[in-house]
Amino acid sequence: VKLHRPLVVANWKMNIPEGGLSDFVASCSSNSESRPGKDIEVWIAPPFPYLSPLRAEISAFGFDAEVGAQNCSDQKTGALTGEVSAEMVSDQGAVFVILGHSERRTLFGETDALIARKITAVGMAQLVPLVCVGEDLESRERGLTAQVVTRQLRECLGPARDRFGSLVIAYEPLWAIGTGRNASAAVVVEVNQVIRKVLRDFGEESSRVLYGGSVTPENAADLARAGGADGFLIGGASLDPSKFMGICAALSPHPASPVEKS
Ligand code: 13P
Repeated sequence: VKLHRPLVVANWKMNIPEGGLSDFVASCSSNSESRPGKDIEVWIAPPFPYLSPLRAEISAFGFDAEVGAQNCSDQKTGALTGEVSAEMVSDQGAVFVILGHSERRTLFGETDALIARKITAVGMAQLVPLVCVGEDLESRERGLTAQVVTRQLRECLGPARDRFGSLVIAYEPLWAIGTGRNASAAVVVEVNQVIRKVLRDFGEESSRVLYGGSVTPENAADLARAGGADGFLIGGASLDPSKFMGICAALSPHPASPVEKS
């Protein structure tokens, strides 16, 4: 039983300057044919300084989307130069925080233990943690995908257990991020079963599990049809409003069609 609407999340990473916010939302809103219906949930994660301005643009255009952060501190307050707390992003209108993205893990040295503390901080600020897991190419080739993903989930969720109200997981294999090589629908289905098994152990079976990694309007329908994911976490294609809306349309359980609308 699907408990939630499909969820499409844009991870802008360090892209789209302030001057591009209005154009982005205007383009997403302009075409009523491609605008996602109420049956799709849309979240956008801009860089920190644009959380509030993006939210303002979203309400100005009457676009139906939530904003969230791409990261936050595990601490509430203190002498932590350059850090931003979960409360602070919440004050800017964020409803979710992406945690444990592979770029945070590999470029900024984030460990599962740190991610677990961040999940706790985000949950305590009443925000939804969107936790990313995924194996690298070597682990995949050695047949270790299930082992890696299970370990990441257990180590991220274990210490944080009972500290979050609602949770979203994204399966993002490293070899698929920004490479143009998406995981096949079969892989997405298979790894989602692994993730669901761990979530059941944690009593979190109602959490949504997304797929991320080179999702495009062209491959989204296939991935959605296979039924392995409750939505997508999108990098590159989320910077282009028409591609982003194309992915939302591919996920829509009831695509707008002249027949259905009459
Ligand atoms: P791409 O969609 O550019 O492959 O990025 C995926 C990603 O990292 C989303 O968090």
